[in-house]
Amino acid sequence: MNKKTVSDVRVRGKRVLVRVDFNVPLDDEGRITDDRRITESLRTISHLRAQGARVILASHFGRPGGKVKEELRLDPVAARLSELLRAPVRKLSDCAGPEVEAAVAAMKDGDVVLLENLRFHPEEEANDDRFARSLAALADLYVNDAFGTAHRAHASTVGVARYLPAVAGFLMEKELVYLSRALESPTRPFVAILGGKKVSDKIGVIRNLLTKADALLIGGAMTYTFLRARGHQAGASLVEEDKIDLARSLMEEAAQRKVVFHLPEDVVVADRFAEDAAHKIVPAQAIPPGWMGMDIGPRAAEAYGRIIREAGTVLWNGPMGVFEFPVFAGGTREVAKAMAESSAVTIVGGGDSAAAVEQLGLADRMTHISTGGGASLEFMEGRELPGVAVLLDK
Ligand code: 3PG
Repeated sequence: MNKKTVSDVRVRGKRVLVRVDFNVPLDDEGRITDDRRITESLRTISHLRAQGARVILASHFGRPGGKVKEELRLDPVAARLSELLRAPVRKLSDCAGPEVEAAVAAMKDGDVVLLENLRFHPEEEANDDRFARSLAALADLYVNDAFGTAHRAHASTVGVARYLPAVAGFLMEKELVYLSRALESPTRPFVAILGGKKVSDKIGVIRNLLTKADALLIGGAMTYTFLRARGHQAGASLVEEDKIDLARSLMEEAAQRKVVFHLPEDVVVADRFAEDAAHKIVPAQAIPPGWMGMDIGPRAAEAYGRIIREAGTVLWNGPMGVFEFPVFAGGTREVAKAMAESSAVTIVGGGDSAAAVEQLGLADRMTHISTGGGASLEFMEGRELPGVAVLLDK
């Protein structure tokens, strides 16, 4: 990686502002349901503490829209982090102002504080210069470990780097190394699996992967727009009518580039969008009128599994079906299992596919699961992430 990291800087006795992405999911009772983003940041935080830095953590949490929202305070995150670190983590009541300055001034080497949700201030998302300066004034050095937010050009991800030396944390480094290796120098065959609802969400990713991958395996609801582009009927399935021509041109481009473009040979269809809907398996070319595609079928899952097991690198983004309904989770489960069993380098883009792998208990068997949803998608599109661009080059 060509960016400086925490390993390249001396931090003893320094105040270090660490941008983390602690935007974790909560249940109705306000309990954290998936703490991967917290556990993945521990390496950077522990390293800084061990080196005698004063660690000032900053994160956003949800989308409060520039206002204080009690349910989006970072207290549950501070509590979880403190448990994991086995050390006190003081959660401050704001991220700017005299109280915060006083609390930081009182810190000792090895101490950790967590600033309150950055997005309680509209200046954060506006990348306001004064706000960025006030954050920067708290510290001597800036570490960005928030890969999940690196696609946002906000005060805490971009603005602060104008005022402080800026380096990557270990999580940021790990994400960039795995994702760029997969895209730039993959062990071949390089197979990309793309699912999710809409072709329109994945156009940039498909375009970029067509220049890099050997095969594309398609699943999720976007299958049905591609099936229509191949001239088949899709019943009541979700189809983006205005993207059918685009889907056709993407498949033509794949053919020109000799990238094998796989659509499922069979699908699971249901008579309505519900967990307890009547359902059956049909050939993908023969979806009956009134029935909607909910998952790839068992033959498709088996075929995809074979390709995955023989791959050198597998990159996966987007579930194969409506996996939140167990009866339509089969395709997603088979793909995840095949990845777990494959000797390939296996990389799971963040968001829903990462959640699926966690739910299936297969997370430990993947080479890398990204903590970024939108960020990993933009990276796979080949775009430079603003939060990475501002970091010091090696
Ligand atoms: C995410 O969850 O993808 C990141 O934390 C970014 O959040 P945002 O989409 O609200 O900017």
